[in-house]
Amino acid sequence: MSRPRPLVVGNWKMHLVPSRTGPYLRELLPRLSGLRDREIAVAPAFTSLPSAAAALGGSTIRLAAQDLFWEDEGAYTGEVSASMLRDLGVAYVLAGHSERRQLGETDGMVARKVAAALRAGLSPIACVGERQEARDAGGAVPVVREQILKAFEEAPAAAAPGLAVAYEPIWAIGTGRAATPGDVAAMHAAIRAELVRRFGDPAGRVIRILYGGSVTAANVDPLMATPEVDGLLVGGASLKPDDFARIAAFR
Ligand code: PGA
Repeated sequence: MSRPRPLVVGNWKMHLVPSRTGPYLRELLPRLSGLRDREIAVAPAFTSLPSAAAALGGSTIRLAAQDLFWEDEGAYTGEVSASMLRDLGVAYVLAGHSERRQLGETDGMVARKVAAALRAGLSPIACVGERQEARDAGGAVPVVREQILKAFEEAPAAAAPGLAVAYEPIWAIGTGRAATPGDVAAMHAAIRAELVRRFGDPAGRVIRILYGGSVTAANVDPLMATPEVDGLLVGGASLKPDDFARIAAFR
């Protein structure tokens, strides 16, 4: 089966207020023109999604959200549903980013978020990754395998083409210490095996496995040259148009 089209997502985290979003994207978009063999998305904060949608209008750059709530509608003060995101033109949504897990998000909550995204026609990107201690103890693969099994607990096999996984080792996020292409290849192969076990073959092979954690313009090419890597989730470097454009133009 052919390799899925690579996906590069810029995770803005809690940066770029709505009034900065349009100007930022107007700087970024011309730098991305001509990249047709890959998909590129930006994930602004909820409040910046409308201005991002307006600035992206007509471009091929997709809109992603950083989180969602697992219920479809109701008395849930402060929460944002998948259909609300969908109504703004959002295509992808992160679920279970480690910065959210740090704030108390559990595997069960991530599973419900993945299911809610699928119900609304969004493509969830389930984020997984081990802590430094787990890696040091040789237990990285079992930790990540368990996170994937749980995240996709409620996802039917027919949903596989709409799913993605982002492998983001916690020790690599925002530290400037990206995982090596060799370590990423090994973990992605283990994730692929788990996805094929869970969804079957070929369904388990079409799910994109992204790498995230200190991706920069300087380390992107060897990471993307790794056949097991189907794309990237980029944090800090996605806030600088030149850097993000160079990353998206990986060779
Ligand atoms: P980073 O963040 O690129 O700044 O390490 C990645 C992420 O958290 O998605």
